[in-house]
Amino acid sequence: MKVVRSTDELRAELAGLRVDGSSIGFVPTMGALHEGHLSLVRAAATRCQSVVVSIFVNPLQFGPHEDLAFYPRDEETDLDLLGSENVDVVFIPTVETMYPDDRATSVSVGPLGSVVEGSSRPGHFNGVATVVAKLFNLVQPSVAFFGQKDAQQLAVIRRMVADLSFPVEIVGCPTVREADGLALSSRNMFLDEEARGAAISLWRALEAGREAWDGDRDRDSVEKVMWEALIAGGVDPDYAHVVDPDTFEAPSPDGGVLLVVAAKAGDTRLIDNLLLEPGDG
Ligand code: PAJ
Repeated sequence: MKVVRSTDELRAELAGLRVDGSSIGFVPTMGALHEGHLSLVRAAATRCQSVVVSIFVNPLQFGPHEDLAFYPRDEETDLDLLGSENVDVVFIPTVETMYPDDRATSVSVGPLGSVVEGSSRPGHFNGVATVVAKLFNLVQPSVAFFGQKDAQQLAVIRRMVADLSFPVEIVGCPTVREADGLALSSRNMFLDEEARGAAISLWRALEAGREAWDGDRDRDSVEKVMWEALIAGGVDPDYAHVVDPDTFEAPSPDGGVLLVVAAKAGDTRLIDNLLLEPGDG
């Protein structure tokens, strides 16, 4: 496993991997790796001849009052974890490498970037799309792997790849959960005992939403059921919606259905989702 930090080193390593048209699988991350990230790395290793992982805490996708300065970073442990997997190259650029001072161009993802999670985090998805576009151009992977955990991010990336004709196949991978259902997240390490106990209510709310949807398929009442389950579980809800998994607008009668929730457990904001019926993605 080769660790590279500059774009020149990355290009040199990739040239060595790109022999005989072999496929490159790419897993972009912000580090603080856990089993959720590793499941993507394993999916990449199963699908592709070579695997490239990036670790970059992308300032563009954090709002002014968000947790950029406190975002967990542990490069040593990340490299230990990746060293035990089938990884060929780890790309760890600095902010200066990714964003020179005269940077002016960014990717805007339209309405999908400003609804639901995008409405709570203005500019977040444009920041994600911009860094992922840049990483795709640097790594030029055949296939890139993203978690269903961040369902709207996955939809944004699929939209961007289709709209801008990136020659990359996007694979969505299932959410890895703790035994009690809590979705793994780098931010879970901030949960104290009480907040960890309350955090399970995101998954409980989604399960209650699924049951309610199976009952009457009424959007408003399902959203109410999820909202109340979040409150009852001791978290502070931001939203609880029933959406189309591709547009994040109201589901259409014969399209997909996705339940999405966001809430604060203690000071930590968590998101989760449950796909009831797949979309076109
Ligand atoms: P990060 O939060 O580090 O996540 C990297 C990838 O791991 C994403 O595709 C995310 O959906 C996936 N992931 C996180 N938790 C997961 C879980 N419990 N199960 C399965 N997959 C999981 O998402 C980002 O970084 C950034 O926005 C990035 C795409 C790297 C752009 O900066």
